[in-house]
Amino acid sequence: MMLHIPQVLNPEQLAECRRIIDAGDWSDGNATSGFQAAMAKNNLQLPHASEASRAAGHIIRRALDASLLFTSAALPRTVLPPLFNRYGVGQTFGGHIDNSIRANPEGGVLRADLSATLFLSEPGDYDGGELMVEDTYGAHSVKLSAGDLILYPASSLHQVTPITRGERVAAFFWIQSYVRGVEQRALLFDMDLAIQRLAQAAGQSDPSIISLTGAYHNLLRMWAEV
Ligand code: NI
Repeated sequence: MMLHIPQVLNPEQLAECRRIIDAGDWSDGNATSGFQAAMAKNNLQLPHASEASRAAGHIIRRALDASLLFTSAALPRTVLPPLFNRYGVGQTFGGHIDNSIRANPEGGVLRADLSATLFLSEPGDYDGGELMVEDTYGAHSVKLSAGDLILYPASSLHQVTPITRGERVAAFFWIQSYVRGVEQRALLFDMDLAIQRLAQAAGQSDPSIISLTGAYHNLLRMWAEV
C-alpha cells in the first residue's frame, strides 16, 4: 500500500524546517547506505547527529504524532529520527532496496516496515527527482507538494530519478509498525477509516459503531507486536 498524506507540515512548520536545515552542514549521502545502495547513491545528506537534523526532525515527529491518517495507516511503534537529503542537478539515487534492520540512533535496533518521504521542496522548484516506487501493482512515480508525505512498504524497490533543474530537498525515515503484515495493516486502516466515516454519520454512541470499534481493537490486539 502506498499512501499520500497531504500537509503533514503546515506552511509555518515547513518554513521552520527549511530554515533550520538550509543552514545545516551537509555532507556526502553515502554515510547511511549499505554497500550496494552506496554504489547507486549521489546526493547530500545532513548528519543525523547534527543539531539541524535533530531540531528539524523534532518538528516532523511532532507533526506525525498529530496526524490521524499517519497513525491509522502506519500504526507506528517506533519512528526513526528523520534524515534529510538534497539533490542538485545531475544527482540521483538509482534503484535499490533499503536495509531491513536499522540501528536506532536513540538506542536499539528497528525492523523497517514502512519507508516515508516528506517532500520539503515544491514540485515547481525542480525537474526530475521523482521518487519511483515499485510494488506488486507496478511502478509509481511520486512528486508531491512541499509538506506532503508518501508512505510505502520498506521492502519496495525504489529510486530517485536524476535532477535536471533546480534542487530537491526531502526528509526520509523508517517506521516499525505494531503490525508487521502489510495485508493486516491495510485491513485495519480501511476498517478504521470506515468506522470514522460511519461515526460522523451515526454518532460515536451508535451501537453498531461501538461493536465495529470493538472488532477493530480485537484484530489489533491479535496482530500487534508489543
Ligand atoms: Ni532508499
